Amino acid sequence: MYQVIARKFRPQCFEDVIGQGHVTTVIKNAIDQGKIPHAFVFSGPRGVGKTTVARILAKALNCGQGLSSSPCNVCGICQDITASRAVDVFEIDAASHTGVDNIRDLIENSRYAPSIARYKTFIIDEAHMLSRSAFNALLKTLEEPPAHVVFILATTELGKIPLTVVSRCQRYDFRRIGVPEIVRQLACVADAEGVDIAEDALMLIALQADGSMRDAQGMLERVAAAGVGGITPQTVEAALGLVGRSTLHDLLTALLNKDAPSMLAIIDEVYRYGYDLSQLYRALIEEFRNVLVLKSGYEDLAVPREEKAFLKDIGAGVALHDIHRYVSVLIRSEEDFKYAGLPKITLEVILLRIIAAPDLVDIQQLIQGTAGRGVPQALAPKHAENDLAAYQRPPSTIPRSWEGFIAYLRDHDQLLHAIISKAGRVREEGNRIVLEVPSAFLAEQVQQGRKEIEKKAAAFLQREVSLGVEVLADTTAPSIKPSELRAQALKSPLVKELITEFNGQVKDVRPKE
Ligand SMILES: Nc1ncnc2c1ncn2[C@@H]1O[C@H](COP(=O)(O)OP(=O)(O)O)[C@@H](O)[C@H]1O
Ligand SMILES: [Mg+2]
Ligand SMILES: [Zn+2]
Repeated sequence: MYQVIARKFRPQCFEDVIGQGHVTTVIKNAIDQGKIPHAFVFSGPRGVGKTTVARILAKALNCGQGLSSSPCNVCGICQDITASRAVDVFEIDAASHTGVDNIRDLIENSRYAPSIARYKTFIIDEAHMLSRSAFNALLKTLEEPPAHVVFILATTELGKIPLTVVSRCQRYDFRRIGVPEIVRQLACVADAEGVDIAEDALMLIALQADGSMRDAQGMLERVAAAGVGGITPQTVEAALGLVGRSTLHDLLTALLNKDAPSMLAIIDEVYRYGYDLSQLYRALIEEFRNVLVLKSGYEDLAVPREEKAFLKDIGAGVALHDIHRYVSVLIRSEEDFKYAGLPKITLEVILLRIIAAPDLVDIQQLIQGTAGRGVPQALAPKHAENDLAAYQRPPSTIPRSWEGFIAYLRDHDQLLHAIISKAGRVREEGNRIVLEVPSAFLAEQVQQGRKEIEKKAAAFLQREVSLGVEVLADTTAPSIKPSELRAQALKSPLVKELITEFNGQVKDVRPKE
C-alpha cells in the first residue's frame, strides 16, 4: 500500500535517476547516435530504478517529438507511457502475468507493426519468471528481430535467464544505491511532502534499505504516517520495529567486555519486546564490521557521526584479531541461526561462544593434527565442528551432572574444559568432588584453576562444590616443569608457523599423554 511516494517521485527523465549514471549515460549515447539494440536486459536488486529507466527508455524511443535522449514528457505518447496506457508499449509482469493472458502469443505477435509509436516496446518485469514457451518465442523473435520491436527485460535474477537470450541483448547492471544518495533523495521527498525529519533519522532509514530506493521511500512513508511533529531516530526505530541503536550499542559493549550476564539480559529484553532477532543479528554483524573497518583506518563509513565516534571508541580497547574472530564466528554461524528452531537460544549460544572465544589454541592437538602433514590445517575444521555441536544442543538439555558440566564447559570455557576433561575418574562425596588425575602436572593445573572451576561448577550444578585432586598412584608420567615445556614448545618450527599463520599466542602447554 505504500506506493504513493514511489509513484509520485518516479524519475521521468534519465538525469533524475539516482546512482545509475553508468547505465543512463550509455543508453543516452546510444539513442543520440541512433544505435538502438533490439533487446536490453536490466539486471539488479529490487527498487533501484530498472522499471523506471525502462519507461524513460520507452519514451525516448517513442516520444511524439522524435527519437530523443530527453523525451518531452508532454506529448500524448509520453503521457500515455507515464500512465501505463500506451497502446504500443506492453508492460508485462512475468511473475504475476497480470494483464496479459498469453505472453507467448504476445511476443509472437510482435512482428506486426506498432499502431502509433515508432517501436513496439515490451517491458518484461521479473523476466526470469517467463515460462519456457515464452522464452522460446522470445528467442525466435530475437534471432530475426523485426526493425520495429524493442524488448526490455528487467530482472533481479539474471542467472535464471537463458544464456541464449541474454547473449542477444545489451546488458545493463543496475547497482545498489549508496546511503548518502538515498539520504539526499529522502530529504528532497520529505521536504516536498512537508515531513519534518532529522538527518540521523533519514540515515537510519537509508541504512535499513540496503540500497533500495523503493524500500527507503516506503519506510519514510510508514514513519511519516506513524509520527507527529519532528521525526527522530527513535521515532524511526519505533515505527519500523527496529532494535534501538542504543540497545545495539549496549550489546556490542557487553560482547567486547565479555560480559555474559549483561549480554543475556539484553537479548532477553529484545526478545520479550518481540523484535526481530535476525535483524539484530544482521545489525550486529554490520556493527562489528564497522568497528573492524574503522580500526583498519578506513574512515568513510555511512553511519551517523556520533555512532562513528562510539564505534571508534569501543574498538580502541580490543585487538584487531579478536574482532576478526568475532565477526567470523557470526558470519560462519549465520546459516545455523537462520534455520534455528529456537532462534533466541541459538543466538545466546553463538554470542556466549564469542565471549568465551577460544583464546587458547590447543597446541598439542594442533601438533598431532598437523605433524607429518606439514600443513597447519587442524584449526579451522576443529572449530567448525565445535561450533555445530554448540548450537545443535540447546543448554537446557544438558543434564545438571558433572558430565553435563564438562559438556557445558566444552562450549563455554575451553581452557577449563581442556584441564578437567583429562581427569581419569571422578568421585563424588556430598559436595566434594574429587578428580583423580593421571599426572602431577595435571594435578597442578587443576589446583591452579580450582577456584574458577568450583565457582562455575557451583553455578552450573546449583549447589556448593568443593574440588579435590588426587594423583593416580600408578602414574608414569615424566615430571617436566611447565616452564621447560613451554620453552621447548616455543622452539618448535611448527609452533612458530602456527603462531604466525593464525596470529596466535601460546597460553598453555601440556605434555603428551
Ligand atoms: N535510481 C533511482 N533514482 C530515483 N528513484 C528511484 C530509483 N530507483 C528507484 N526509485 C524509486 O523507487 C520506485 C520504484 O523503482 P523501480 O524503478 O520500479 O525499481 P525496480 O524496477 O528496480 O525494482 C520509483 O518509482 C522511484 O520512486
Ligand atoms: Mg520493477
Ligand atoms: Zn514526448
